[in-house]
Amino acid sequence: MMLRLSLPLILLSHSAYSMLLGWVESPGYPSGYLPHSSLNWSRCAPKGHTLSIRLIHLDLEDSHECENDAVKVYSNGNLISVLCGKREFEELQSTVNPLLLSSPGGCLSLHFYSDFSNTKRHTGFRGFYTVQDFDECEDDPENGCTQFCHNFIGGYHCSCRHGYYLDADKHTCTVSCSKDLSGLTRGDISSPSWPGSYAENANCEYTLSVAPNLQLELHFSGVFDLEQGHDGQCIDALRVETRTGTLGPFCGNTAPPSPLLTYSHNVKIRFTTDGYGTNKGFFFHFKTTDKLCPPVVTLHSTLAPEKSEYRQGQTVTVTCDQGYVVNIQGVQTLSTEYVTTCQVTGEWAPDNACELVDCGVPEIPEDDILYLVGTDTPHTKYGDQIQFNCSSKYYTLEGDDTYSCSASGEWVSGSGQSQIPKCTPVCGMHEKDISSIGRILGGQDANLGEIPWHLLIKEPSRGGASLINDRWAITAAHVVENLGDMQLVLYGGLVNAQTRDRFSDVVVLNSEKIIIHPGFSKETPLRGRIDFDNDIALIRFTSRVNLGPNLLPICLPEANRALVTNEQGTVSGWGKTETKRDPGKLQGASRMLKYAHIAVKSLDQCRDTPTIEGNQHVRFTDNMFCAGADGKDSCQKDSGGPFVTPYLSAGGPYYLAGIVSWGPPCEERKYKGYYTKVANYIDWIKETIDSEGNS
Ligand code: ARG
Repeated sequence: MMLRLSLPLILLSHSAYSMLLGWVESPGYPSGYLPHSSLNWSRCAPKGHTLSIRLIHLDLEDSHECENDAVKVYSNGNLISVLCGKREFEELQSTVNPLLLSSPGGCLSLHFYSDFSNTKRHTGFRGFYTVQDFDECEDDPENGCTQFCHNFIGGYHCSCRHGYYLDADKHTCTVSCSKDLSGLTRGDISSPSWPGSYAENANCEYTLSVAPNLQLELHFSGVFDLEQGHDGQCIDALRVETRTGTLGPFCGNTAPPSPLLTYSHNVKIRFTTDGYGTNKGFFFHFKTTDKLCPPVVTLHSTLAPEKSEYRQGQTVTVTCDQGYVVNIQGVQTLSTEYVTTCQVTGEWAPDNACELVDCGVPEIPEDDILYLVGTDTPHTKYGDQIQFNCSSKYYTLEGDDTYSCSASGEWVSGSGQSQIPKCTPVCGMHEKDISSIGRILGGQDANLGEIPWHLLIKEPSRGGASLINDRWAITAAHVVENLGDMQLVLYGGLVNAQTRDRFSDVVVLNSEKIIIHPGFSKETPLRGRIDFDNDIALIRFTSRVNLGPNLLPICLPEANRALVTNEQGTVSGWGKTETKRDPGKLQGASRMLKYAHIAVKSLDQCRDTPTIEGNQHVRFTDNMFCAGADGKDSCQKDSGGPFVTPYLSAGGPYYLAGIVSWGPPCEERKYKGYYTKVANYIDWIKETIDSEGNS
């Protein structure tokens, strides 16, 4: 009995703050535990304390890895010890007990169990548990005290050497070095203890403030020595803060330029140090001078006249660098310079910024044919480049493809163009070549795509027209006269006039406007039409035509291009044809588009004007030419259709030389048709199209 009581006292005598809390032992101790017995025990340490278990007796059945009977101890749920068998008290004391320790404020748990069989009786285990203070100063290297650490039961606190005080974080010792020197126009400032080593963990703030027309200047002298890292970064640093910015950080062994002009009458000097080092610090004298204006008004500009500083009242011209323009109150202007004055406050007024020219995204027509290569949201600043392209192979880019944002804020191409390029339809080409030579009167059936500019008019009377770009067609005036307000419907992309547009690729084109040449005379009501001078009209469609392999425009000839006698060309149309068996008899309108190669006739041949229906004579004017070939001619209902040169299959581009206009009745088999000379109307066509809002 005596021995059992004295043991804890021996065990406890090591630690003065240890407190015995209680005992833990196996069921049935010390007589022995039964099979299938178990014990679960758990306790936690209060804050700033640790909990430990001291075993004084251990006698369990021994087994491999203690798989039969065992005591397992956990710290915060982690297994820290597994015990079985028999251990002597000394062994427990030296190797087992030191491990049975919780973390500060942590928990220990103990789990004992026995299995079903025991060959021999075992007495079990007994131990006691204690709490003791955790010594943060000794045992926790991360306690955070920068100078002194003091442990007490349940916690610790930090304290500082003479001359330092404990910062608000309760751990860091700093020096009190901040000073408000407002109002002083001269004086000295140095690091604490200069020229001795300065204190660690310092954060000194010296406030200087003088009259607004004065500026503070700092004259450094003596030792300058602030800790600097190997990478040149400041570890300890001196900074001079003004309203407009910070000078520094300064460190190393080279003092800042002296005098250091601050251009400011309110200055904060900030000195910060880390927790280590024995550097000596800094010293400077401060005084005031008249405020001067700095040699920079705003970035990206130069000043004229150029000086290193400017007196109050002095005026300078600010010129923005190439590619920069003046921004006034957030708005970019077109000007590149302005005049500004040095104020008594040492500031420039005005001090508008020079900013990089922004050309903006160029305006591109909504039809999506012209597009910007690569992006819809290009970079649009000075020097940036954009590139244009046409989205369809039936268009070519007219002009340059690459433009740069110029200093004047405009997009300018390599050749100096500032107008963005246009996509113009490719004209006078067909993807399919004419396969054979043929006969209209004496004509040949055209294949789809061979004459892709030829448009068909069915109502009110059959005629032809030619597509000249993606918005306009051209025809004979007499085909569209007397239409009134009627909208004209034209068909493109077809050769068989009976093709039902709903079931094919036939393109239906609706007229928005029909413009008859102003020189085309009114029909004489009684005698019918006998004057075909200026037989030409333009048709504008309600919308842009989708060009494709079977629908492409014909080129216009050069203005006033002369036609040469015997020049070959091709006329096409859905007009009347001769019957095969009896060439003298005419069939109605042709179902298929036909074409024939015919030649321009001499003026003499043309002047010998035939009579037309009703034995009328028609004027032959300089705005016409006539053409035909043996057995080949245009005919009624071909009017308005194209006569192109060179003849098809000669190779494009093909030009619209003439428009089918008039001629003797085909039955007479004169094989001489009269055509409007398109080259005489190029200016009228271009002006008309342009005045209607381009293509
Ligand atoms: N005026 C006719 C028409 O409206 C064209 C006649 C052409 N005659 C000729 N023999 N080429 O269709």
